[in-house]
Amino acid sequence: MAGRPAEVQNIPMTLQTEKLGGHMAVAVSGIDLARLDSPDAQANLRRLLNDNLVLCVRGQKLAPPAFRDAMARFGTPMRRLQLAATSECDEVNIISSEDRDVLGDGKKLVNGASWHTDDSFMREPCSLTMLYGVIVPPIGGDTQFVNMYAAYEALSPEMKMRIDGLKVIHKYQSSRQTNRVSKRPEGEMKAMPEATHPLVRTHPETGRKALYLNANRMEQIVGMDRAESDRLLDELIAHAIKPEFQYRHKWRQGDVVIWDNRCTMHKANADYAEGERRLMHRVIVAGTEPV
Ligand code: SIN
Repeated sequence: MAGRPAEVQNIPMTLQTEKLGGHMAVAVSGIDLARLDSPDAQANLRRLLNDNLVLCVRGQKLAPPAFRDAMARFGTPMRRLQLAATSECDEVNIISSEDRDVLGDGKKLVNGASWHTDDSFMREPCSLTMLYGVIVPPIGGDTQFVNMYAAYEALSPEMKMRIDGLKVIHKYQSSRQTNRVSKRPEGEMKAMPEATHPLVRTHPETGRKALYLNANRMEQIVGMDRAESDRLLDELIAHAIKPEFQYRHKWRQGDVVIWDNRCTMHKANADYAEGERRLMHRVIVAGTEPV
């Protein structure tokens, strides 16, 4: 419930927390991520993230190198060629309302407009994504999240048994994709062939099971005929994105939102007024092969 202080152990007195969603997402204010030197405070942020899946740190003012360095406390920042990078820092990508498909038809591109988890087309997808609201529109441009632990736990015992052990092929350009992804050079495409991941993964830090879906990148369930695979994937996606598993983040300028791709999906909304700008800086940190 918004406004209720979260119960957190060992948090320094200056760290104020506020539960954002009923079952996920917490906001922290009163800290400067660029100066968060205390290992205790860092461990507490990590615990908040593991418990809440989405962590928003309010009121930050971070140049790209400072943003990268602050996020490096959560893991190893990675470069992503699919998005433009800031001139100051290769590991800080730009997501902008002005994005265009520069190698394709030049049309406007809304990165992340359908439900997804980041980088599932890679063998070792990033574990966390950090998005920093540099310019946010006054209305619209929210990011939606779903809690994939909760979605898994709510499945019937029969469905859990049916999907246990199934694996899915994920591709950058999936034939099931639901929104346009930027066209990439041939050499780059060859360097990211396809990856096979479990449909249910176990989080390496919490030990909890989560559905692992990506509406835009999943191609087919291994060993299942195409029609049956499509039916099952569609059913699981429809289940996972039910409102009861969702949290919708309304951005404030200066928010740094960190989410865990191993137990969430998310989706961008380009529903702000024509002429409004939305500019985000983005860092991802390395992950491991899903199991
Ligand atoms: C993303 O999918 O990484 C970006 C989400 C957003 O811009 O809201």
